[in-house]
Amino acid sequence: MKPANGPLLARIAEQFGTPCYVYDAAIIRERIEQLRYFDVVRFAQKANSNVHLLKLMREQGVLVDSVSLGELERALAAGYQVADEPCPMVLTADILDRATLDRVVELKVPVNAGSPQMLEQLGEKSPGHRVWLRINPGFGHGHSRKTNTGGESSKHGIWYEHLGEAIELIKRYKLDLVGLHMHIGSGVDYTHLQRVCDAMVEQVKTSGHDIRAISAGGGLSVPYHADQTATRVDTEHYFSIWDKARKQIEAHLGHPVHLEIEPGRFIVAEAGKLLAEVRAKKDVGSNHFVLVDAGFNDLTRPAMYGSYHEISVVSSDGVEKRNPTRPTVVAGPLCESGDVFTVEDGGIVAPRALPDAEIGDLLVFHDAGAYGASMSSNYNSRPLVPEVLVDGDKITLIRRRQTIAELLALENV
Ligand code: LLP
Repeated sequence: MKPANGPLLARIAEQFGTPCYVYDAAIIRERIEQLRYFDVVRFAQKANSNVHLLKLMREQGVLVDSVSLGELERALAAGYQVADEPCPMVLTADILDRATLDRVVELKVPVNAGSPQMLEQLGEKSPGHRVWLRINPGFGHGHSRKTNTGGESSKHGIWYEHLGEAIELIKRYKLDLVGLHMHIGSGVDYTHLQRVCDAMVEQVKTSGHDIRAISAGGGLSVPYHADQTATRVDTEHYFSIWDKARKQIEAHLGHPVHLEIEPGRFIVAEAGKLLAEVRAKKDVGSNHFVLVDAGFNDLTRPAMYGSYHEISVVSSDGVEKRNPTRPTVVAGPLCESGDVFTVEDGGIVAPRALPDAEIGDLLVFHDAGAYGASMSSNYNSRPLVPEVLVDGDKITLIRRRQTIAELLALENV
């Protein structure tokens, strides 16, 4: 069982209401420290783009990767700026919509290009612009097929056999090639890691172009199951594999190159918990349901990927219940049958042995700091939930709950 700090979480639920996300700054700092071997740690902010967390990252020397205009503006709001190499900000994408193109040209943000058209559209407007090439090496790997970002069925990156054409475009538009980037998916395994490193060395040689940096992408796994702590990536080992590839590249080019890593989940997943209150219980045939006030609009991963999140039960006065007594299906309030948190791979409802939960108890969803709040939505017209940061003794509301009036405001035309 993963530990839940019952008294603290009950106090936060009381003060800010449920559902509510809670983050622990100490865990974020610890994970960043574990990545210190790399020259550059670039946070994939899609995992969690709260401006206050981005500020915390910036203070720790972490750079940032944005994937949209909104994420670029969030990075700026957190104090990130465009500067020399390694540039604190980069935009990674497979297309440039018009508004994003205008903004990256104005800001001079380096662009990690995932399609030839991005190079053409950028080159026409902004000759000399700094670019990275995101390469699809022809294979991928993910914790779910939806998070595999390489191979023939992935829309991401420039297909490895088309590197030559991309280099031609870079020359034609006099773009400034910073480096090559590969991210094959989320949930690293070492077999694939070695393949990616080999592919990176091969691509640098094939390109026939000088570069100043390589990016290992993100994808470092975290132990979502309590008994899987061994699956947390050994960052020193991970680095050593990439470092060998880097040295081969340096030998080929005859000068040093920066080695970047671009994790999202590894830095924030374990730092975050989603708190929800038990509001109803019912027995449906052989299934015992516990219904909480958070739904898949708040935490999408179980419904979307069949992902596992540990669940703790805490009484309203902060006592953690530790004895799993009965198989329980935990579900949310949405008017949709798939609004279930206890699922197996493929999204099949899977009762889980949990302590007996009373109405008013808190359910704590662990490891919800990555792709939790950032993937939440207003489905069923439910407002976005608050986010709270715990830093030692300090408890700060870093996003307030959205109001219903704010939901309606866009339609008051
Ligand atoms: N870099 C690039 C180019 C990416 O596409 C991603 C993730 C990352 C870095 C960070 O990957 P991470 O280290 O967080 O695994 N919503 C899914 C994950 C989608 C990841 C998409 N790209 C989930 O909840 O598991």
